[in-house]
Amino acid sequence: MISNGHRRFKVALACVGLSLAWAVPLSANSASADSASDDAAIQARADALLKQMTPEEKAAQLTQYFYLQPIPAANKPALEALRTTGLGSLLFVTDPAEVNRLQRIAVEQSRLKIPLLFGFDVIHGLRTIFPVPIGMAASWDPALVEATQAVAAKEARAVGVHWTFAPNVDIARDPRWGRIVETAGEDPYLTSAMARAQVHGFQGPRLGAPGHVIAGPKHFAGYGASLGGRDWDEVELSDSDLWNVHLPPFQAAINAGAGAMMAAYMHLNGVPAAANRNLLTTILRDKLGFKGFIGSDSGSVNKLVTQNLTRDTQDAAARAIAAGLDIEMVDPGKLAAMSKLPAAMAAGQVPQARVDEAVGRILKAKLRMGLFERPYIDEKAVEKTLNDPAHRRLARIAAERSAVLLRNENGVLPFDKRRIKSLAVIGPMAASAKDTLGPWVFEQNGASAVTVLAGLQQKLGKKVRISYSEGVRMPARMFPSPSATADKVPERPPLDETTEIARAAALARDADAAVVVVGEAMNMISEGGSRSSFTLPGRQQELLDAVVATGKPVVVVIFSARPLHLGETRAQAILDAWYPGSEGGTAIANLLFGDAVPAGKLPFSWTRSPAHAPNYYAQLISHKPNPVNGRYWNETSAPTYPFGYGLSYSTFEYTNLRLQQPSVPKSALVVLNVDLKNLGDRTADEVPQLYIHQRFGTSARPARELKGFQRVTLKPGETRSLRFVLSPDDLRYWSSATNGWVNNASAFDVWVGGNSEATLHGIFELTG
Ligand code: NOJ
Repeated sequence: MISNGHRRFKVALACVGLSLAWAVPLSANSASADSASDDAAIQARADALLKQMTPEEKAAQLTQYFYLQPIPAANKPALEALRTTGLGSLLFVTDPAEVNRLQRIAVEQSRLKIPLLFGFDVIHGLRTIFPVPIGMAASWDPALVEATQAVAAKEARAVGVHWTFAPNVDIARDPRWGRIVETAGEDPYLTSAMARAQVHGFQGPRLGAPGHVIAGPKHFAGYGASLGGRDWDEVELSDSDLWNVHLPPFQAAINAGAGAMMAAYMHLNGVPAAANRNLLTTILRDKLGFKGFIGSDSGSVNKLVTQNLTRDTQDAAARAIAAGLDIEMVDPGKLAAMSKLPAAMAAGQVPQARVDEAVGRILKAKLRMGLFERPYIDEKAVEKTLNDPAHRRLARIAAERSAVLLRNENGVLPFDKRRIKSLAVIGPMAASAKDTLGPWVFEQNGASAVTVLAGLQQKLGKKVRISYSEGVRMPARMFPSPSATADKVPERPPLDETTEIARAAALARDADAAVVVVGEAMNMISEGGSRSSFTLPGRQQELLDAVVATGKPVVVVIFSARPLHLGETRAQAILDAWYPGSEGGTAIANLLFGDAVPAGKLPFSWTRSPAHAPNYYAQLISHKPNPVNGRYWNETSAPTYPFGYGLSYSTFEYTNLRLQQPSVPKSALVVLNVDLKNLGDRTADEVPQLYIHQRFGTSARPARELKGFQRVTLKPGETRSLRFVLSPDDLRYWSSATNGWVNNASAFDVWVGGNSEATLHGIFELTG
């Protein structure tokens, strides 16, 4: 149940040359009639091709190689085979001329002239970079999320990419886990809304729509629940966790039409996901109804040997295919396990029909994308698409709408433009383009960023004297990140941090206010970015303390994607900007000076300490119901900020929760209204959130669960009556008592408010 600001976004979408047409479902009849005949035609073409294929050509279609320069010697023969057997897919090629060159080989030289599918990690933009996905989730604005991923798709398709390994719809309940940055956080309902929006944005109105790409939700399934938040470690999930928490976002992505899916790396309940038949076939195909193709994560078929599942790589290829996998992503420098598939077929290790089904799915994706008719891209049009100023405008709006204001004592923000004549801008992230962009941004695509320092300079011009100190350097990781480019830092002269901290404090003392930009460097999060501490890395805390000690107003801007321990910092304001992307600095300058009003809300509980993780809000009520004090004897386990939390420059009042009917049959809709008033003197957005609690039933249910939200704009003094509707689908859950879905007749609490600790309360009954 989401009502989103479609109307407001018409303007933004018009700016980026997108229409809302794609967000509006086509009339059911015509759509299904068309797609049925399309489906039949595509199936017939795929079948005709399949009949002509040798086992080697089939295995090649089930293979996806990295294409990174210089090409590792071990990969050269396989890439040469593009000329003969063809190849399913390549990833990481985004140079338009190279895309066309390689495609020409596939289409003009290989025996069956089957085009290549180009895949890439388009996570939060290609040239124009939007805030990282956790930031986009913090906007609580699916229409915006859809618009940003539509732009990402447009840029990606322009350079020749057909398939993105996104969205990441893993549930991240343990913020030690680095990949939280790519997710929508801890909540299945919010993550499902973001999953749907991203799939629609990437794919457009239908799979194969021009200017769009195939969405590949990942990582199926449960990757976010790794032991200790350690990346890649095993996952043990009960069916109840799987069905109630981890699978709903995948179901949402599938219902939105996702054309691909990526199987996870790790063991789920002892079986690596890439060869987990229960996961890939029984659950994904039979129960969730997925119709697209399933790809592996990088190298994970070969690694079935490492993970102690299979005897050798031939066995690995056979078991992955038998389990339901369709295409293997091969680690750079390795030979595809699928190269052994012909031998496995000859030895009867894998059913022929299953191989043909997999090949058929890859061919159908290529046919759907129109690659047989239009294999090449227009190289001359690329730069114009990538440099569209409307894309940058949307990036600015996205960064403004994703920022979360965590603290604002004495209304220090927004800064008063008349009073601030000098500003000290401090911190290792303040002028770092790389950290403004965040992870999953690749040099080869030429992204650039307006840093916080540059954004403030551009906004304030000569009217305000701006001084700058880097303060301290980001320390190196103890263990390098898996991506060498992430750790690559430009050569710079060494910094005497003790002297620089003193200089930064002097600059603050000499200014009307200080903006301190601290956090975790972009290579300290994401894949291989798990961390067992929430402190500010290096000497950033010392820097912050020295600046705060000046007694000047201090605003902390955080770049991070997990809760950070800001100690006892006395800074008056804290704005979490995530990794805000290409226009991050422009957006932050607008937010600090009140030309944009923060309204983002946390998509995770700001866990006080990594020792508490996981500590999400939707927990069961125990026999000792006091949820936060006394769970540990040494400190409270309450999060520093609750899920859904975020301040505004305005304040809001929630009143008058009224249920249309206090008691309804469990097959009917529950309808309620709430009045929301903007008490402040400026127009501002608020995100009303609806939480429920089922009091008794087949299983015990969490203390609170998000079941609705809206992002609304209210004028000063305006009151709006908001309507929420709960359907039986919103109220069902999977019970381990019956091993199935249940809708109980029960009593329910309902709360509506600005975060997960909302107090405005009502009660309704569902009758049998
Ligand atoms: C490994 C990551 O787990 C996956 O998410 C990504 O898409 C691939 N590498 C390709 O970069």
